[in-house]
Amino acid sequence: MIKLIVFLFSFCGVYGYFTLPGKCPTNVAAKDDFRLEDFYGKWYQAYFYSSDGQRKNNCSVIELGIEPFESYKSGASPIHLNQSRVDRGLFHRYSIATVRPPASGSVSGSLELEYTFKNAPRRLMTRNYKLEILATNYNFYATAYTCQYSPLIDKHYIYVWILSRKSSLNDVSKELALKSLKNIGINEEKLVKDDQTKCSPKYYEDTPTEPTTFRYSVPI
Ligand SMILES: *[C@@H]1O[C@H](CO)[C@@H](O)[C@H](O)[C@H]1NC(C)=O
Ligand SMILES: *[C@@H]1O[C@H](CO)[C@@H](O)[C@H](O)[C@H]1NC(C)=O
Repeated sequence: MIKLIVFLFSFCGVYGYFTLPGKCPTNVAAKDDFRLEDFYGKWYQAYFYSSDGQRKNNCSVIELGIEPFESYKSGASPIHLNQSRVDRGLFHRYSIATVRPPASGSVSGSLELEYTFKNAPRRLMTRNYKLEILATNYNFYATAYTCQYSPLIDKHYIYVWILSRKSSLNDVSKELALKSLKNIGINEEKLVKDDQTKCSPKYYEDTPTEPTTFRYSVPI
């Protein structure tokens, strides 16, 4: 019964989130001379694009680095990605992913993230997503991208982060960040500005939750 509910739940989710027809675009490329260590630290989401048009949060911040996290198990990658945000102006929430270390010698900006949800049903416990860094100069701006495809309904979902080292991004950096999205038709008009000004919500949650930027909850 629980399985059925979970299935129906994710099935309904699929219809809402996947709005773009066909498979993920093939003409988007991760940066091919990427230096992971220079990318470590805090990045503010200055703008974003979510293909389903949803906007549920502000104050999104991404932090990447080697952290002595509680959940750190020996053998697991020590590199973590902490995404935090304020949901509906009220709840401060965060999501923690393990980042698989790049194969030695690899300089691709394509990162593999793994989220673990200990209390979820078995097939939803571990979820893998790709986070592709398309462009960055490490000190000012970065363009991060993810795409998930649902074979079930033959549609895909795209999320783009235009990241900034400071809480706001200047126009030159914004333009540079947008260049890498030209191929897939994401331009300035499609971006939504993240409001980084009112980031002291009422409630702070102290356990990690699901990220809202990866919408493919189960592989269907
Ligand atoms: C993740 O980031 C948020 C916001 O900075 C912070 O409150 C939270 O403690 C961080 N989580 C971990 C495990 O470091
Ligand atoms: C995010 O900020 C914008 C601009 O201040 C505001 O209009 C919107 O309601 C906020 N959205 C949420 C979900 O907090």
